[in-house]
Amino acid sequence: MTDRIAETLEKLSAFGRTADGGVTRLPFTAESEAAAQFLLQYFREAGFRAFRDATGAVHGISEDPAGAADLPRILIGSHYDSVVNGGRFDGVTGVVCAAEAVRAYREAGGRGLSPEVIATNDEEGVRFSRGFLTSTAMCDGFSDRDFAEIVDLETGETLGQVLAAHGCDPEAVKAMKDSISGYDAFLEVHIEQGPVLYKNGEQIGVVTGINGIRRFLVTFRGEANHAGSTPMNLRKDAFYMAAQVVQYVYDEALRTEGVVATVGHAEIFPNAQNVIPCEVTFTIDMRSADDGRMETLAEKIRRRALDAAEQAGGSVIFRQTMQVPPVAMSGHFLQLLADACAARQLSFCRMESGAGHDAEIFGRRIPAGMLFVPSIRGISHNPAEESRIPDIAAAAEVLRTALVMYGDESAEKELQTQ
Ligand code: GLV
Ligand code: MN
Ligand code: MN
Repeated sequence: MTDRIAETLEKLSAFGRTADGGVTRLPFTAESEAAAQFLLQYFREAGFRAFRDATGAVHGISEDPAGAADLPRILIGSHYDSVVNGGRFDGVTGVVCAAEAVRAYREAGGRGLSPEVIATNDEEGVRFSRGFLTSTAMCDGFSDRDFAEIVDLETGETLGQVLAAHGCDPEAVKAMKDSISGYDAFLEVHIEQGPVLYKNGEQIGVVTGINGIRRFLVTFRGEANHAGSTPMNLRKDAFYMAAQVVQYVYDEALRTEGVVATVGHAEIFPNAQNVIPCEVTFTIDMRSADDGRMETLAEKIRRRALDAAEQAGGSVIFRQTMQVPPVAMSGHFLQLLADACAARQLSFCRMESGAGHDAEIFGRRIPAGMLFVPSIRGISHNPAEESRIPDIAAAAEVLRTALVMYGDESAEKELQTQ
């Protein structure tokens, strides 16, 4: 199993590899399409019935060899898209762990469950103003309005246009709504993307809950004018308005305990050295385990943005583009995964996730559990992102053990009800 994990992650890292050894694999690009085709083949070789869904996700169903129907359906996996100039482990580690755990489970004669591996698409939400495409499609779903309002941050194309251009029928995406209710549980392995496990020398993290996320798109408008001849007090500089608000975001996030905020994407127009900027758009990404604190901070930032625009004679559009509340993982799976770590004699700790994951979307609808693999030096969303292959293999082994335990539990329940 270990060799195949190493080999598969290496092959996947070629799809969108950057000059510095990182990965840029944005959704609905040639790189991500090549990765999806590779995953289809990889799932088939593992003995799964593999297919794509309307969001571009890749699924692999491991059918019961005896053809038993009505078995508990468990969905396991993570995402195959990446951020811009990200690492080789974010997302795909969980896809490969899921595939190898299910394969090993079947090869050891595992029965009593119907596991389905999934590689979700556009989890990161880097290309568009919002992410979690596949998991949202399977849970709360998308409307025509969503397809029109979610835009490519670089080109302004709408999600609906991009889906259609890639052969993904928006109507079929809409029809995926609530399909999650056909599953009994969701499990995900992911790299930690932080320093806790690495610093403490623990092999596995059992995730207790995932922080909430809010994202905003802020556009300031002023007036373009000459950079030399326009007096400072007569300008309507959109960048000046934006700069004050960006500073405010950071100052307030530093002052507010338990909240982090990032301005990670900005566009300036016309972006010329001798022209006063007439339009600046930037994103704010906010995370916290406390939704109320995000709400309060967001309102303060919104008011500060209105003030900045008014004082400079400009205007502002302040739009929330994403709101995902914090979610707790299932207590039952927390215990099951901890028991599986103990059964494999691995050191583990229980911990919160600061990063967002599909498990937080699925976990609001069905019981979900999550495992973290240590990230070397806690670095992620960076080409230097790295996790040790033996640690990843250990997580896959815990997952396989958890499948056996879950299958046994379900069989026992079935006996009791007979
Ligand atoms: C995903 O990596 C996220 O937390 O943004
Ligand atoms: Mn990520
Ligand atoms: Mn990820």
